[in-house]
Amino acid sequence: MKPVKVGLLGLGTVGTGVVRIVQGNQEDLSSQVGSPIYIERIAVKSADKPRSIEIDPAKLTTDPWEVIRDPEIDVIVEVMGGVEKTREYLLEALERGKHIITANKDLMALHGTEILAKAQEKQCDVFYEASVAGGIPIIRTLIEGFSSDRIVKIMGIVNGTTNYILTKMSQEGASYDDVLKEAQQLGYAESDPTSDVEGLDAARKMSILGTLGFRTNVELQDVSVSGISGVSKEDIQFAKRLGYEMKLLGIAESQNDEFSISVQPTMIRASHPIASVNGVFNAVYVYGEAVGETMFYGAGAGEMPTATSVVADLVAVIKNLKLGVNGLKQIVPYKQKKLKSDED
Ligand code: HSE
Repeated sequence: MKPVKVGLLGLGTVGTGVVRIVQGNQEDLSSQVGSPIYIERIAVKSADKPRSIEIDPAKLTTDPWEVIRDPEIDVIVEVMGGVEKTREYLLEALERGKHIITANKDLMALHGTEILAKAQEKQCDVFYEASVAGGIPIIRTLIEGFSSDRIVKIMGIVNGTTNYILTKMSQEGASYDDVLKEAQQLGYAESDPTSDVEGLDAARKMSILGTLGFRTNVELQDVSVSGISGVSKEDIQFAKRLGYEMKLLGIAESQNDEFSISVQPTMIRASHPIASVNGVFNAVYVYGEAVGETMFYGAGAGEMPTATSVVADLVAVIKNLKLGVNGLKQIVPYKQKKLKSDED
């Protein structure tokens, strides 16, 4: 069977995990999709950088356009981050009929509508499971698992850095500044951790979850956001004494198709399952009208958990290729947007 050829944009933490999984699980992956999967070309920042995996140097390029324009490549996996330039790369790849997998929450929160529309026009897949909550398969769960239900509430701990900081402050009485430094050293935080601690990273992820859950166009500016930089050890200890934990919670609610959405430090009863989600872990609590309470838990960042989601998307794209159904499973929000604060 003809191998499927993949172009990888980015070989940082997640990109390295993707190569590890595709190489390490090749036999199993090939059996699932019915053909070998080759990572054909890789766009990197620096071709000479020492790496923890073995890569044929001939595959590397510092020019992402070479990967996008390579006619041999069927699928682009984007794990390099960035917004404006990356949007251009992906739109061009779609124009050329290539399917896209991206872990880029910033891109999907800001330009998801445009990218998905282009994908639909070109009958291509765009899958972005790794963009929210790393290793938790929450996006396909919202799209497929809840398709029969009406979701009324999504509550998420979707930023590992802030959850790590709040956990250490709560359990060890550590100071905010010290734990933030530690989270940066551990590689959880964004290159500019302001987007973690001020809640923007979580807001972007919540807008993606809200769009999928409520089947309407939830945009970043709809999310009211406040971060954890103003939360003190004393606030956390006070909450604990009252039987609460302090968490940076994304809360999206929908009633009669009107939604509200926020990200803020929230005191949540210690007995609630989401209150015991600690460290860098993420969790998404979904309440459906018919199903009631559900909760999904797992690693929200890190090389292998995030790469697992990326490669699962790759498997899905290739299965669609075999069936000739690419572009058919794209979720395009269809409900008229109604923010709770909007005038009726
Ligand atoms: N900085 C992000 C976090 C990385 O801490 O959750 C994963 O998106």
